[in-house]
Amino acid sequence: MRAMPSNTPMAATPAPAAAGGRWFPAGTHITIRGLTKRFAGAAVYENFDLDIPHGRITSVFGPNGCGKSTLINMIAGILPYDGGQILFEGKEARETRIGYVFQNYREAVFPWMRAIDNIRYPLQYLKLSKGEQAERLDRLMQAFDVKLDLNRYPYQMSGGQQQMVSIMRALVVDPEVLFLDEPFSALDYEMVMFLRERLQKVLVERKVTTMLVSHDLDEAVLLADHVLLLTKRPTQVADNLLFDAPRPRTADTTVTPRFIEVKSEALAIFQREVRK
Ligand SMILES: Nc1ncnc2c1ncn2[C@@H]1O[C@H](COP(=O)(O)OP(=O)(O)O)[C@@H](O)[C@H]1O
Ligand SMILES: [Mg+2]
Repeated sequence: MRAMPSNTPMAATPAPAAAGGRWFPAGTHITIRGLTKRFAGAAVYENFDLDIPHGRITSVFGPNGCGKSTLINMIAGILPYDGGQILFEGKEARETRIGYVFQNYREAVFPWMRAIDNIRYPLQYLKLSKGEQAERLDRLMQAFDVKLDLNRYPYQMSGGQQQMVSIMRALVVDPEVLFLDEPFSALDYEMVMFLRERLQKVLVERKVTTMLVSHDLDEAVLLADHVLLLTKRPTQVADNLLFDAPRPRTADTTVTPRFIEVKSEALAIFQREVRK
């Protein structure tokens, strides 16, 4: 018996919409068609298709080395690919406001800048007045309920605090699309819970299209509207499960029957794929 019906979120989408003469299904933000990527001749992706819904959190989960980081890096426009097309409502990555949170915050935050200067760094690339910049920062501080002294340098902060700075730096530009690659690995549990809660709040309020890579199935399901499950290489979509529990989702969500159902199904699919 299947725990819940699997569903492809975009399958029931009605009429396509147009942007600049290029077509994409309505409700879809990111359209990937025929994507091919090889490393030293070996295909990681071969003719890969995927639709990512607008304003939703999609978790990416799959076997180690299946190409999760490779996928989000190609979509984010920081890794070239060998074939196919990736469009954001018909536009290219460079025409889209993108935020990216790296797994390794130690290499991502600027060590010579105070926390506050790290966070506001990307604002110089937007044409905003000083007042608008200050307003952006204030809004973000409030959303994250920052208790930390932002005049500190990264070496004066814990790993969790540095990752919070790196998340705030990604959000300060008001991204249309946010990518996070295992952002909470190697942080202590209390900080992970805090960051998950704050991040979720901002993403849901601002309806940011989000792709979150996680190697932790509990986390992948907990934060997701859609859990994208990948196969081994050459990588295809194994399934795309809907998780529609109310937000905010907290540690309490992980003991609800619905969570356990979706997680069990995801685990069954994952195990089937890994054994292949
Ligand atoms: N720059 C690279 N050169 C060669 N092989 C790579 C490179 N980057 C990734 N790979 C290979 O591609 C596969 C997918 O990598 P990656 O996307 O990092 O996996 P994941 O994030 O799912 O663990 C792995 O087998 C990895 O060894
Ligand atoms: Mg990875």
